[in-house]
Amino acid sequence: MPNAADVLLTDATNPTRIRLVLTDSEQAWRESLIESAQSWLDRQRFRAKPGQVAWLEDAEGPLVAVGWNGRDDLATLGGLPMTLPEGDYQLLDAVTELQLLGWALGAYLFTRYKDPTRSPARLALADNQPLDRIVNTAEATSLTRDLINTAAQDMDPQNLAAEIEALARTHNAECSVISGDALLDAGCGAIHAVGRAADAEPCLVDLLWGDRAHPKVTIIGKGVTFDSGGLDLKPAQGMRLMKKDMGGAATAIGLAHLIMAERLPVRLRLLIPAAENAVSGNAFRPGDVLHTHKGLTVEIDNTDAEGRLLLCDALSIASEDEPDLIVDYATLTGSARSAVGSEIAAMFSNNDEIANGISEQAATNDDPVWRLPLHQDYNHMLDSKVADVVNSAASPFAGSITAALFLERFVESTPWVHFDIMAFNTRNRPARPEGGEAMALRAVFQFLKARYGDA
Ligand code: BES
Ligand code: MN
Ligand code: ZN
Repeated sequence: MPNAADVLLTDATNPTRIRLVLTDSEQAWRESLIESAQSWLDRQRFRAKPGQVAWLEDAEGPLVAVGWNGRDDLATLGGLPMTLPEGDYQLLDAVTELQLLGWALGAYLFTRYKDPTRSPARLALADNQPLDRIVNTAEATSLTRDLINTAAQDMDPQNLAAEIEALARTHNAECSVISGDALLDAGCGAIHAVGRAADAEPCLVDLLWGDRAHPKVTIIGKGVTFDSGGLDLKPAQGMRLMKKDMGGAATAIGLAHLIMAERLPVRLRLLIPAAENAVSGNAFRPGDVLHTHKGLTVEIDNTDAEGRLLLCDALSIASEDEPDLIVDYATLTGSARSAVGSEIAAMFSNNDEIANGISEQAATNDDPVWRLPLHQDYNHMLDSKVADVVNSAASPFAGSITAALFLERFVESTPWVHFDIMAFNTRNRPARPEGGEAMALRAVFQFLKARYGDA
């Protein structure tokens, strides 16, 4: 993985100049050029459409023209690292931190199983641009993407735990792991049930960092390293992408990295329940009743609704020490994808002020989220005839809402935000390459920074 610090330079010898050209002012700009330059633009049919690139030469030498729609977003520069020829570039126009971040995010390559065919183009920054912050954010995103893109064979629950332990060492954080049957002693009957059929033991990873006197923020992520569906086996098409079912954990881990790298004044707790939802003789079954950490019993209606089972134990443990805020990320339901598609994170919260704050940051940081309601009247769909609650509602409607309502039982009144995310780009977009993606990571980080950060 070429890290962000390699594609953003503080100095470069003889970088090629880049000029951003607003689509609407393309004509006026063209007329300001010498005639030979204008004819090069004609030959390349340059219309300054967003992301469109043309090469020309002016009195000072070679120049790259890049079309721009005037928005402040990741896409402004996000396509350039992989479309411009390898080499060093420099911007003639003032750009924002978000736009520079777009370059860094667009330079991502997943290289674990295959050598890349090219290096990303590099960008020289001006002295006054916040290189460290951009690099930290890009590294958090790359970490999340790498964890998701890694094949499930190489990213089982124990591998995922090892990644978090490595992160803890990097940042001098405390870290403990409860694995296998020890989960039963710790009361985590739900995590254990989901993960016990797999060869790699399920676990709960608990990372702690920062000053105890600071407000406590607990981040949780669904770490299903592969979701076969269990005995309620998924069909082939539904299973194909399920290496990404630890995308919530990967996003939580990326966010934790960013919080620690930026030394946010919070007491951070990262709680990652990890399990593979596999099929075996000892797999949990439809009709089984699980004993959760909170003490509630859960009747299993469908073994494919496993994510909420991992999360419920983690959420009740998180609630016990009454943090200022709990945030969880999970690739929880297909229903959330039906509602908002794969490119928007569905958000649920029991706190309007926090939800509004995150929505605001999502909009200004090009990290889209959309809030859905915790509609209390749907709680009846979770009624069980034999246990306190059922893990999956019989109704075909509002699946992401009933999943969120299930989770809410385990947090009660602790301020809490839940993200139901895709964690995967199904198509290539500027700054958002196809594959694993950190969704709603930057929106939450910026919110935490605004809420807790010192001036
Ligand atoms: N990991 C899936 C949800 C998922 C599927 C997210 C595809 C993104 C894309 C989850 O564990 C699951 O299987 N959910 C079921 C729940 C149902 C059985 C109540 C779903 O959404 O169909
Ligand atoms: Mn599932
Ligand atoms: Zn799942």
